[in-house]
Amino acid sequence: MAKVEKNYKLSNGLNIPNIGFGTWQIDHGSLAVDSVKEAIKAGYKHIDTASIYGNEESVGTAINESEIKRKDIFITTKVWNSDRGYDNTMRAFAKSFQMLNVDYIDLYLIHWPSAKGPQEEWAKTNSSTWSALEELYKDGIIKSIGVSNFMPHHLEPLIDNAEVIPMVNQIEYHPGFMQKDTVDFCKKNNILIEAWSPLGQGEVLNNPTLLSIAKKYNKSVAQVCIRWCLQNGTLPLPKSVTPYRIRENLSVYDFEISDEDMKTINSLPYIGGSGLHPDKVKF
Ligand code: A2P
Repeated sequence: MAKVEKNYKLSNGLNIPNIGFGTWQIDHGSLAVDSVKEAIKAGYKHIDTASIYGNEESVGTAINESEIKRKDIFITTKVWNSDRGYDNTMRAFAKSFQMLNVDYIDLYLIHWPSAKGPQEEWAKTNSSTWSALEELYKDGIIKSIGVSNFMPHHLEPLIDNAEVIPMVNQIEYHPGFMQKDTVDFCKKNNILIEAWSPLGQGEVLNNPTLLSIAKKYNKSVAQVCIRWCLQNGTLPLPKSVTPYRIRENLSVYDFEISDEDMKTINSLPYIGGSGLHPDKVKF
């Protein structure tokens, strides 16, 4: 069996645990605190949140109340769309930092590209947001920086004007929705792809092809989706508030999907997902 390491290395040399616990749609308060604590207990070493999720404070509480040492947990958060631009981003970061109540952030992302109106305007907005991330990165308070939901036409102008190339692009990625152009562009530029909604928000779990592949390995479809992300070199961020699923989603290092089954999954047509397109979203 090909060994899948438990970390990827970012372009700046930083190790990043290759499965992250996704917290999108987990309400702040006891549900978020308990779910993150459960994830840490299960062995997750990487928690993904965002200011718009409204649960940063709960994520911070769970981390600070857990046994885990700060250096053993990787924390990602993101700047929201209403905080774009250098000054707003600096203020937004200060707030996230305070909410999370930790002494540094491992990864900070631009949540969605600015993409409305003339390109010269939105590209400028993305670059000024990015310059705030670059400064925070140089200060050392953030250990790595990246983007989310960027397609090649958003990344190109950003990179042209950047001092630091993004280390990560977090995109929707699951069977039937592989965003090949974006993934290829990022691979060429040494940008790690993180997969949000690796289970298609649960919508891919009843697909007959995936069900028959999962049966063959005596695994669940969720586990197949997560392992499939790893074997494609992407970093899955499964979300669950259900303790046995939280544990199940991390138990993917003891089997390997064959090349033939990888090909079958890679060629599945669209079978559900968020339907959100960076150039069309209304937020
Ligand atoms: P729940 O949180 O109630 O456990 P995604 O990560 O693609 O956004 O998918 C999240 C959705 O998939 C949630 O509805 C979550 O439900 C569900 N889910 C997460 N893990 C599993 C699993 N192992 N089996 C079935 N459903 C799961």
